[in-house]
Amino acid sequence: MAAKLKPAPPATLVIFGATGDLARRLLVPAIANLCSDGLIGESLNILGIGSRDGGDEDLRAGLDEFAPQGDCWHKLRSRISYLQGDFTQPQVFEDLKARLGDGNVAFYLATPAQFFGPIIESLSKAGLMEETDGRFRRVAVEKPFGHDLPSARALNAQILAQVDETQVYRIDHFLGKETVQNIMVARFANPWIEAIWNNRYIDSVQITAAETVDVGTRGAFYDATGALRDMVPNHLFQLLAMVGMEPPNDLSADSVRTEKAKVLVAVREPSPAEARADSVRGQYDGYRKTADVAAKSDVETYVAVKLFVDTWRWAGVPFYLRTGKALKARDTEVVVTFKPVPLALFRDTQVADLPPNRLVMQLQPDEGISLDFMVKKPGPKVQAVPVALDFHYADRFKIGGRTGYETLLYDMMMGDQTLFQRADQIEAGWSAVQPFLDSWAKGKGKVERYKRGSDGPAGAAELLERDGRQWHEIGG
Ligand code: BG6
Repeated sequence: MAAKLKPAPPATLVIFGATGDLARRLLVPAIANLCSDGLIGESLNILGIGSRDGGDEDLRAGLDEFAPQGDCWHKLRSRISYLQGDFTQPQVFEDLKARLGDGNVAFYLATPAQFFGPIIESLSKAGLMEETDGRFRRVAVEKPFGHDLPSARALNAQILAQVDETQVYRIDHFLGKETVQNIMVARFANPWIEAIWNNRYIDSVQITAAETVDVGTRGAFYDATGALRDMVPNHLFQLLAMVGMEPPNDLSADSVRTEKAKVLVAVREPSPAEARADSVRGQYDGYRKTADVAAKSDVETYVAVKLFVDTWRWAGVPFYLRTGKALKARDTEVVVTFKPVPLALFRDTQVADLPPNRLVMQLQPDEGISLDFMVKKPGPKVQAVPVALDFHYADRFKIGGRTGYETLLYDMMMGDQTLFQRADQIEAGWSAVQPFLDSWAKGKGKVERYKRGSDGPAGAAELLERDGRQWHEIGG
């Protein structure tokens, strides 16, 4: 039986940007869920900071809408308070100091990215990040962490000049997803998977994060960002690292993060010509009409890239990554295609007639794992046909009703950094995508239009066809 988890120690959670969407929809409901699980008790206080006028009751009323109702929320609600202030000015940090006292504090920066560095500097200058007398002072930083390699390096340098790496919790919310964490368990708790998890048996890997939603009201952010920066060096690379990592020596945060960083460092840097040939950019019809998007924007809302991971295990195995908005289905998945058998032994059968074995890890929606394998079709003739072994999380476990931030917030309170990005992982991620950004900045990498509700641009299919492969169907 699993060991019972300990409740988090007494602390204050300070949320910068407490009236924003992230805090209302995800963070505070996650705290309420942790409270119902008995993992955060009466000893957690929440202090929200925002620029709007108002008092404690206004903040609480704003949070009511998304919080899971019940006793827990009722009690937690009374321990929420509000501090109005402008976090570009020193005053709010003085006010904060007066309010906080000497206990444990976790600061959560749910603000636009340009404030991450300055807020941490101000917290540090006000003496609020000092960990003396056994108290912790930690800071969670949301994404985007930089917008390219130089800016991510600069942000890491700015933060680490003020606080220690052990105090920094860089969030990638994909790591809070149960099924993402399950990739590691599926690999390392099942010898038959791990035994064939290498370039002798694996032909190629596809990683997809397809969304049906469009850019909506996020035009200003998105038009300065694009699909690659928004999803690839962070979320998709978390999946790639989980799929590609070597077994860590133990499950300590640094052992796990070191193995993941090694995979990202091993992503081969494409030459300018390869970066051009191995990336596809798309934009859905109508994107340019979105509010706060440039009328002639050529920012991509879809991207597909082909990468290689130059390690002993993965040499020669292409990793195809794609993500996009306004596509035909919501589908986040990892698809591992195995190599063909060396010889088809069945009467009248060629190797080419046998569809390859395939393992599909479905991360959302309908979380589960499905393995295609070949069986004999009943009958006098020996004929091989593919069937699937299917596991759906929902058939076996109670899932849902979670925001995905529960584990992340609990781990932060407990001081476990395993599911947070270390500075070197972030930089390795940006470094691997930088050649694509550089090639596109030189005007290479034309943006193809695609229809809303489609599979994405035609070029993405060609990227695989060129190699004699096909994408797994989105939503299939
Ligand atoms: C965010 C991106 O980090 O992740 C969004 O900024 C994207 O553009 C989202 O929609 C996807 O997350 P999820 O959990 O909905 O798959």
